Amino acid sequence: MDKKPSVLFVCLGNICRSPTAEAVFRHKAKQAGLAVDIESAGTHGYHIGKEPDKRSQACGAQRGYSFEGISCRRVESRDFEHFDFILAMDESNFDNLHKVCPDEFKHKIRYFLEFTTGPEREVPDPYYGGKRGFELVLDLIEQASDGLIQHLQGH
Ligand code: 4NP
Repeated sequence: MDKKPSVLFVCLGNICRSPTAEAVFRHKAKQAGLAVDIESAGTHGYHIGKEPDKRSQACGAQRGYSFEGISCRRVESRDFEHFDFILAMDESNFDNLHKVCPDEFKHKIRYFLEFTTGPEREVPDPYYGGKRGFELVLDLIEQASDGLIQHLQGH
């Protein structure tokens, strides 16, 4: 039997965007009956061990997503070998990942929003803004999650 696909979502702090992607994608993959290994991590270590930002959790909960069990960690060198898809939220995450990833695994690093049909390429950092930013993060992540599920299902 084939190994199940694995996905690592990456942002800067691993407390807003990438844990939201982890929670949303877990929910949608389960609904689709798709077995996937799903984790998230940050390129920087400001908040290691902390739970996701309360604002992300509150906005996500209103749409039915659970953040239970998610705690902040940093990207580690073994992630590049382990994961099939390493999905950056924005250009600086993408560039920071590229800087530390061995050449043989660089093809795994992609923008998460590649999997949408929308014009945006980046999920904007909501950390210093208001609730609207967190809702936009959810909107973009929901669309990209649907696209990634279709991709994994071979459509
Ligand atoms: P994230 O947002 O990358 O979506 O988790 C941020 C979280 C924390 C900080 C910046 C962005 N910070 O500067 O602490």
